[in-house]
Amino acid sequence: MILKQFLNAKRERGFDPDLLELVQTIADATIKISRQLRVAVLHGHVGATEETNVQGEVQKPLDVIADNVFVAACQTSAAVSFAVSEEQDNEIPVSATGKYAVIFDPLDGSSNLDVNVTVGSIVSVIPAKAASELLQPGRNQVFAAYAAYGPSTSLVLTFGDDVDFFSLNADEEYELADADVKIPSGNAEFSINTSRQNLWDKPVQDYIAASLAGEGVYAKRYNMRWVGSMVADIHRIMHRGGIFLYPNDAEIAKKGGRLRLLYEANPMGFLVEAAGGGASTGLVRILDIQPKELHQRVPVILGALDEVEAVERRYAEAK
Ligand code: AHG
Ligand code: MN
Ligand code: MN
Ligand code: MN
Repeated sequence: MILKQFLNAKRERGFDPDLLELVQTIADATIKISRQLRVAVLHGHVGATEETNVQGEVQKPLDVIADNVFVAACQTSAAVSFAVSEEQDNEIPVSATGKYAVIFDPLDGSSNLDVNVTVGSIVSVIPAKAASELLQPGRNQVFAAYAAYGPSTSLVLTFGDDVDFFSLNADEEYELADADVKIPSGNAEFSINTSRQNLWDKPVQDYIAASLAGEGVYAKRYNMRWVGSMVADIHRIMHRGGIFLYPNDAEIAKKGGRLRLLYEANPMGFLVEAAGGGASTGLVRILDIQPKELHQRVPVILGALDEVEAVERRYAEAK
């Protein structure tokens, strides 16, 4: 089944046709980005630009290219009120009659671009007609998806019910590869940047130490994986289980965390919860956070529910 047929089936089940059309537009944008990625080295789209984004990060050429693709895609849809991007200072007004805001991390894992390691795009859709409605808790999302550009291109999406996994076929159509994906439990594997170990909150230090000592959720020594592209790390967890953490630490606490609530934590949290997993800061459910600003950062702990709950218990005990 290709994506178009999948969306048609949703239409017959009463989903908003405007939202379904928007999802097709978003999917088409990710196909355009995958094409750009394939030839980036040959087109000289490597290294850094001279621009710094609102996050304080030096932009890569593909951060900018992917952002332009998404903004242009949003501008073709009358259903879109605002496009909101990690790479833009402010929201971009699209259509005065639009009812959905599209919020995105156009290129995730951009430090991996020059070394041909999987990167991604992350998208969130919320109902919002006015700029004053952009700051909503993640539980209000009506759609979230990520594209993973790896050996193959995957599109993983949810309307909040189940999570479906599409793979780009030889005709450049997204084809359903796995329906109603659930995060398996039982995989003793964590994903965290251990170079920051000395800085982590104590409950996270204790949780990882216990996992390594064979005293974690599963009584065995844990394995570790860290791609450095959140999309790739979450995609692995969607298939294989385990836990992803970018927790609060002593250095990033003043910023609120490393990852962004609107562009990364909310859409990924929405997907992970729909796949039966957990999404927490350690202290609160990510999807219940009332955002105060577009570029707000948060601690992020995502993955198999039993693991996420184990981290939450350590935070609760430390109080
Ligand atoms: P982005 O490229 O969109 O700015 O996001 C990068 C994020 C995320 O993908 C990843 O998990 C994390 O940054 C990696 O951080 P470290 O460099 O600390 O490993
Ligand atoms: Mn960035
Ligand atoms: Mn990112
Ligand atoms: Mn990004």
